[in-house]
Amino acid sequence: MKIITVKNLVKTFGHIRAVDDISFDVEEGSIFGFLGPNGAGKTTTINILCTLLAPTSGHASLNGHDCNKESAEVRKSIGIVFQDSSLDKDLTARENLLFHAYLYNVDKSERKKRIGDALSFVDLEDRADDLVRKFSGGMKRRLEVARGLIHRPKVLFLDEPTLGLDPQSRANLWEFITELPRKHAVTIFMTTHYMEEAEACDNIAVIDKGKIIALGSPTDLKKIIGGDIIYIKTDDNKKAMSDIKKVIEADVSEKDGEIYLSSLKGDLCIPVIIREIGERVISVRMQRPTLNDVFLKLTGKEIRDETATPEDNIKEAVRSYRRRH
Ligand SMILES: Nc1ncnc2c1ncn2[C@@H]1O[C@H](COP(=O)(O)OP(=O)(O)OP(=O)(O)O)[C@@H](O)[C@H]1O
Ligand SMILES: [Mg+2]
Repeated sequence: MKIITVKNLVKTFGHIRAVDDISFDVEEGSIFGFLGPNGAGKTTTINILCTLLAPTSGHASLNGHDCNKESAEVRKSIGIVFQDSSLDKDLTARENLLFHAYLYNVDKSERKKRIGDALSFVDLEDRADDLVRKFSGGMKRRLEVARGLIHRPKVLFLDEPTLGLDPQSRANLWEFITELPRKHAVTIFMTTHYMEEAEACDNIAVIDKGKIIALGSPTDLKKIIGGDIIYIKTDDNKKAMSDIKKVIEADVSEKDGEIYLSSLKGDLCIPVIIREIGERVISVRMQRPTLNDVFLKLTGKEIRDETATPEDNIKEAVRSYRRRH
């Protein structure tokens, strides 16, 4: 069953077309990833689906309800973890969850159990009665995921859930998130810049400048590259590139001092290349395409640097905040 349906959705801010005629569906119980660079239109799309923003034109529905016209129904069906934290730091973890349970009219007889379950699910039982201001970034994010689940939503929206976290916390939180569809029968709609997170999604929409430029499973998307990627280092890349083009029909390019090309059958292609430019070769390696290769091919840009330090991530978060305020 399709839990989200989006058709020809457009959102303009003055002359900016933040979302530019996008269409896609999300299957119930799946993890759907929105992957795109800064300013691509990811948050704007989420805000429309969450009824926080009216579209300029087009249509979006969630759990059978129109996101624009039936906002109360849609809101009951969703949980949201925003790009910026919205926890009350002067309340404890348990109190934050209780506040949310009141807000969503969770039945009194259910409240205690749901809060206990949520705290246990995100491994915060030991810290349940500590003030949130004493929590680390990763703990706050986990608590936000727990809060998003208190009213048992059909769809949980996560806007860059792991932004600004160190790799260890990112990995832990990511593990919680990927268990959600199975453990809580919830559909996940998330945005990310991280390739390895996108790899774990059932389906991905790659969005750039408001348009969806690729849609499908990670495996489908990698087929866009059309095979293996071969990297070759030589003592004269320019000359080697022109020689390779004589024997192989492929787009041959150069990046970071290496020649690279894609081939459906890399293992057969390498010997042909070696025969042609053998004595000039310093090193050869071959790898299966990653989503980063797909992204690079489609947008000409890399997905955010995988080796970014926590400090880089914080700077990026600050830039993102500035763009939005
Ligand atoms: N309220 C607003 N008023 C004017 N322009 C806006 C508004 N919200 C978003 N935009 C613009 O719409 C475009 C898409 O922004 P959006 O926040 O959806 O991008 P994003 O993909 O979430 O980016 P990021 O990765 O930085 O979070 C950007 O050009 C942004 O400046
Ligand atoms: Mg955003």
